[in-house]
Amino acid sequence: MKTSNKLAAKRKSKRSAARAARKAAWKDATTAIHAGESHFRVSGPVAPTIVRSSTFTFSDTAEMKRWAEGRSSAYIYTRYGNPTLSLAERKLAELERAAAAVVTASGMAAISSALLAALESGDELISTRQIYGGTYRLMRDVFPRFGIRVHFVETDLAGIERLVGPRTRAFYTETPTNPTVRLVDLEKAIAFARRHRLVSIIDNTFASPVLQKPLERGFDMVVHSTTKSLGGHSDFIGGAVAGSAAWMDRIRKMVIYLGGCMDPEVAFLLIRGMKTLHLRVRRQCESAMVVARFLERHPKVARVHYPGLRSHSQHQLARRQMRGFGSMLAFDLKGGLPAARRFCDRTRLFLLAASLGGVESLVVLPIFTSHYKMSPAELRAAGVQPGTVRVSIGLEDAADLIADLKQALT
Ligand SMILES: Cc1ncc(COP(=O)(O)O)c(C=O)c1O
Repeated sequence: MKTSNKLAAKRKSKRSAARAARKAAWKDATTAIHAGESHFRVSGPVAPTIVRSSTFTFSDTAEMKRWAEGRSSAYIYTRYGNPTLSLAERKLAELERAAAAVVTASGMAAISSALLAALESGDELISTRQIYGGTYRLMRDVFPRFGIRVHFVETDLAGIERLVGPRTRAFYTETPTNPTVRLVDLEKAIAFARRHRLVSIIDNTFASPVLQKPLERGFDMVVHSTTKSLGGHSDFIGGAVAGSAAWMDRIRKMVIYLGGCMDPEVAFLLIRGMKTLHLRVRRQCESAMVVARFLERHPKVARVHYPGLRSHSQHQLARRQMRGFGSMLAFDLKGGLPAARRFCDRTRLFLLAASLGGVESLVVLPIFTSHYKMSPAELRAAGVQPGTVRVSIGLEDAADLIADLKQALT
């Protein structure tokens, strides 16, 4: 019995070594399609199966007991885990170069699970100020009620050392930022977090793992709103956290207790979305560059926020830490809010809708969407002006997008 166990273990470790060697050689585009799939050299479907079951059978009470003792990783209930969710998690983990990932019901579920796993009452958190408005409001309005104090720092991290105290536990950031596409210097940020032994968490939604892999630089956890470019088709809400196995165990517990698990149907859509992530992001970056150049030359535009432009103050930093400049850009119209509203009411191809990263181009006024309920001082600090317009570039032909912008600006 012992010998056969040893043999099985040997065979298993050979298989996983072969798998690891194969994966190490894969580029991202291949990883996105094949990572985590079991369709090699077996007869079966090419597309993943959606396991809709909420619950799973135990073979007998012995297995039930093993599970209760933490000696079995069998699926028992979808909030705890599900094969379709596991595949989505494997794929994302490999794209982010993480040991593991946990998918969640939304980006906010991922963010709150990551932060609550890292912090406890009495702890302090340092976060960059220019982050998704929902995350900012969670930190500003909810965390203090649970005894978690948050200090905000600007994207250049100026004066950050002064914010560190004996109870500082974690550092949170987002780059590029929402909505004005400012960058946080990842090298500087991680050096700071390491110096003070802080848990480091980064929202990688805007860049996606195609353009930036923060875990490779030393971050502890990456969070995503998979609603955006990972899903890519504006047809579901979802989120994910990726990082070490130890952190993901803690995240899994948060998701189990707080209940923010992903639905298997959504996991299927996420898996499908990730398979084309590369092509979509590359094409969106190209079109965003064309749009940014057009807007930069337009007489009604005061300023374009896109790090791909040579004129952008963080262009060199973007070249250093990103593999492309992204699909998001913002611009300030000379006529302020009235001009911005006129423009948004006139676009035809650009849909007037929040969210980003989908196949269709979208336009919004951040003061009425991601940054609503913020004081003028908070808006100024976030770099948001009343006339700031944010666009998410989709997969339409760039010439059609330019024509639409032209007519809406006229
Ligand atoms: C950068 C960023 N992070 C997180 C979120 C929250 O994600 P979700 O809407 O999936 O909860 C958003 C939503 O717009 C976002 O833009």
